[in-house]
Amino acid sequence: MVQKSLKKCEILTLAGTRPEVIKLSEFVRHLDYENHIYAYTGQHYSENMKDIFFNELDSKADLDLRCNTSDVEILRQKIADLISALRPSIMVVYGDTNSSLAGALAARDTKTRLIHIEAGLRSFDMRMPEERNRIEIDQLSDYLFCPSTLSREYLHFEGIENNVFVTGNLIVDVCKKFAEMGLKEKVDFPDDFLLLTLHRAENVDDINSLKTLSTKLKEISHHKIIFPIHPRTKKNLIQSNIQLPENVTTIDPVGYLDFLSLLHKCKLVLTDSGGVQEEAVILKKPCITLRHTTERWETVLMRANRLYPLFQNNEDFGSAVESMLNIKIQSHPYGEDVTAKTVSLLKEILLQSPKVRY
Ligand code: UD1
Ligand code: UDP
Repeated sequence: MVQKSLKKCEILTLAGTRPEVIKLSEFVRHLDYENHIYAYTGQHYSENMKDIFFNELDSKADLDLRCNTSDVEILRQKIADLISALRPSIMVVYGDTNSSLAGALAARDTKTRLIHIEAGLRSFDMRMPEERNRIEIDQLSDYLFCPSTLSREYLHFEGIENNVFVTGNLIVDVCKKFAEMGLKEKVDFPDDFLLLTLHRAENVDDINSLKTLSTKLKEISHHKIIFPIHPRTKKNLIQSNIQLPENVTTIDPVGYLDFLSLLHKCKLVLTDSGGVQEEAVILKKPCITLRHTTERWETVLMRANRLYPLFQNNEDFGSAVESMLNIKIQSHPYGEDVTAKTVSLLKEILLQSPKVRY
């Protein structure tokens, strides 16, 4: 990773985890000019959660804070120090991770204008750290870029009306650009499998949840399941000594091209990931979200996605899977040419806003 010498910049874009590196990759490429700095917090640090994505997506952060933690206060202090050194006139954060919240708080600490990309998502489940994070980030933001009109409506109901724009979802361009390359990659898996990803606390953080997961996956033992396993989930499965049933093949997290190839080849996606729900609909794969709620309601409304909470669920899992297998998906709700539109709006905002706020 390049460590650019610290110098003043106009725009500072922040990422800290796998999904941000992926979703921001085309956006930062469009901004690759001297007044832009792309900083990485290091919340995700493992080779297969970080470096592989920068490499495959040919994306480069200008500097890496190497925080190796998701602790908001540690991240916030490091980011605030960085902002004080770079003095950007605007800062960009994406989504709902602790890195993004820390970035938003640091922007407020340093009186830096803030753009939130992926504003207005709501799961209405305040137990989720991501829901609390995204609400707080939206409240701290000066400009809110929504992926859909529904997100703009949620902000409207919360009284956030000013500087709200529907720009679409940056993943559309990334996914389309790399899907074709992914298909050329050799992923040696059988046809006819279901693709599973899981990393939310509610699903993987206690032994009973993991036991239920194992039981549910056994209920669909006639389906082969490929499970690229998030490090959090892997750690918890090992600690609880739980074996998943034989129809499940667990593999380490894969790079983006392999993941898109798996998505393309699978019959159905089972996931609790936000980004994977979006990519499934873009690539026209039916999806079952293994949660009792989602913040990607558009995909549910268009019946490309349905909810199946693994716990307290009386519906047979096999029937839920069958109900989605033959769903045909015609379109996606996330816009087109999103990167170009987003960058152009950002430049307009820069022209209007004061250059430096110190
Ligand atoms: C975080 C985000 C979540 C996002 C997810 C993407 C928050 C609150 N959560 O969750 O919104 O969906 O990233 O994957 O910010 N670990 C490693 N290597 C890594 C990263 C993590 O081994 O590179 C392990 C560590 O044991 C760590 C655990 O995973 O303690 C959890 O990581 P953390 O970043 O806290 O949360 P995620 O579950 O990854
Ligand atoms: N992904 C990947 N390899 C994997 C699992 C996921 O490349 O083994 C990608 C996936 O295509 C999506 C992103 O990681 O773009 C989603 O990340 P994650 O599920 O960790 O986070 P979330 O989207 O839930 O915040």
